[in-house]
Amino acid sequence: MAALRAEALTCPRCHLAETRTQVVFGEGNGQVRIMVVGQGPGAVEDETGRPFVGPAGALLDRALAEAGLSRGQLWITNIVKCRATKTEKGRLVDRPPFAAEVKACRPWLEGEIDTVRPRIIVCLGTPAAQALIKKGFRMGEEHGQWHEGPSGVKFLATFHPAYVLRLKSVDEEAYQRTWRALVEDLRKVAAAMHEQA
Ligand code: URA
Repeated sequence: MAALRAEALTCPRCHLAETRTQVVFGEGNGQVRIMVVGQGPGAVEDETGRPFVGPAGALLDRALAEAGLSRGQLWITNIVKCRATKTEKGRLVDRPPFAAEVKACRPWLEGEIDTVRPRIIVCLGTPAAQALIKKGFRMGEEHGQWHEGPSGVKFLATFHPAYVLRLKSVDEEAYQRTWRALVEDLRKVAAAMHEQA
């Protein structure tokens, strides 16, 4: 993994290399063989070089704790390793990665998967679920369901913590509902992990 990471840190494969502060490679525990895959780094991750350390990461930590999981049991990474942004009303904001960016970054994710050899992969948010489970994945209907992948790997997708955070300021009821769904889905992951232990 160290060699893969070192190579990824200078990745020139797409134009996000021109605007990133740094590449955000995955980190965590590869021994437990559970992988959590998000969309891509935000501002704090771009600044620090570590995945899920900003506001979405703080919410993820809370949801993991409620579900009886911790980062120490997971390898955490993203479908793209560099921050993708757009300008909105004069401000730089995060955006979902384009398909070409996801494709260009795929070898790094495949390398992480080949090294960790996860038994369970948790996709956070629609872009990760569409990249790893199926193109037409619909989070509203399909979150929390198990999908069988190659070599018996189990996939489950749930709401992205950044999405849950955004709901908080617009719709309290939807926020509460989605937060509970995120925790419930992660509880299924905890239960599956214990079954496999
Ligand atoms: N959102 C993500 O999808 N990944 C991160 O690392 C941080 C925020």
